[in-house]
Amino acid sequence: MGTIGGALPTLRANEFELIRLLAYEHFGLDLRSGKEGLVAARLGRRLRELGLRSYREYYDHVVSDSTGAAMTAMVDCLTTNHTSFFREARHFDFLRDTIFPALKTRPQIHIWSAACSSGEEPYSIAMSWLEESHGEFGTRLRIKATDISTKVLERARRGEYSSDRIKEIPLPILQRYLVRDASGDTFAFKNAVRTMIEFQYLNLIGRLPEGYRCSVIFCRNIMIYFDKRTQQDLVQRLSAHLEDGGYLFIGHAESLNSIEHGLSYVSPAIYQKPGARHSGQNGRL
Ligand SMILES: C[S@@+](CC[C@H](N)C(=O)[O-])C[C@H]1O[C@@H](n2cnc3c(N)ncnc32)[C@H](O)[C@@H]1O
Repeated sequence: MGTIGGALPTLRANEFELIRLLAYEHFGLDLRSGKEGLVAARLGRRLRELGLRSYREYYDHVVSDSTGAAMTAMVDCLTTNHTSFFREARHFDFLRDTIFPALKTRPQIHIWSAACSSGEEPYSIAMSWLEESHGEFGTRLRIKATDISTKVLERARRGEYSSDRIKEIPLPILQRYLVRDASGDTFAFKNAVRTMIEFQYLNLIGRLPEGYRCSVIFCRNIMIYFDKRTQQDLVQRLSAHLEDGGYLFIGHAESLNSIEHGLSYVSPAIYQKPGARHSGQNGRL
């Protein structure tokens, strides 16, 4: 019968440990003790959906699924996909005032949104660039947008958002880059914006894109799930993908204070890879 409609089973200590290790090894998630309640509640919903009787059964279900879909569904339950357009506006001000002026004349610019969730972050980057280049040169900016959740990536690729999700987009910008569907409730990005972004599945704990170099990496509101060791390793590996003088943006609630990294602090949640000329005046990277 399973748990459908009934009370959830208790999450036993050994079951928590199995799930904790699985989430750590595959996704770098740091589910320290104290997170038992969160794990039980979040995965409990999956247990119900699947009609399973215990967290051990759930664990067996996840590890025996060779397609990886059960593992992906697990990480979806354990992390949040919360995001919004132009979230943490200071990063977009910095893009506009410092980074874009420096890159303007380049034939090709690369930016990576490294935990892009349902796409609000990369679409905000694309709109910011189009605004700066007066709608021209869209093809000069290539945005790589990656996430581990296939569910959010599907939504991101569709590029359609309900009216309550687009509130942070200023009206003139909304009118320039999105179109309203016949029902009036959904807004879809125009092709000129969509074609600037390439969405891909990528686990930040695994191999990063070989040979890929970019000017800016957005890795925001994801570090918070990782322990110090994983954070340090990730920041070092991400830095290798930044060109000299390139920038790493992290979430404003995150910090690199207690880890070792070779980046220079620029301002809250903004770090720069040393090695190239950069001046606040002309913003050269
Ligand atoms: C809170 S959202 C952040 C979205 C966006 N960066 C922002 O700041 O608005 C965190 C995202 O990280 C993704 N994620 C979690 N673990 C990951 C991993 N190991 N590799 C890549 N993405 C991961 C989740 O699927 C989720 O979409």
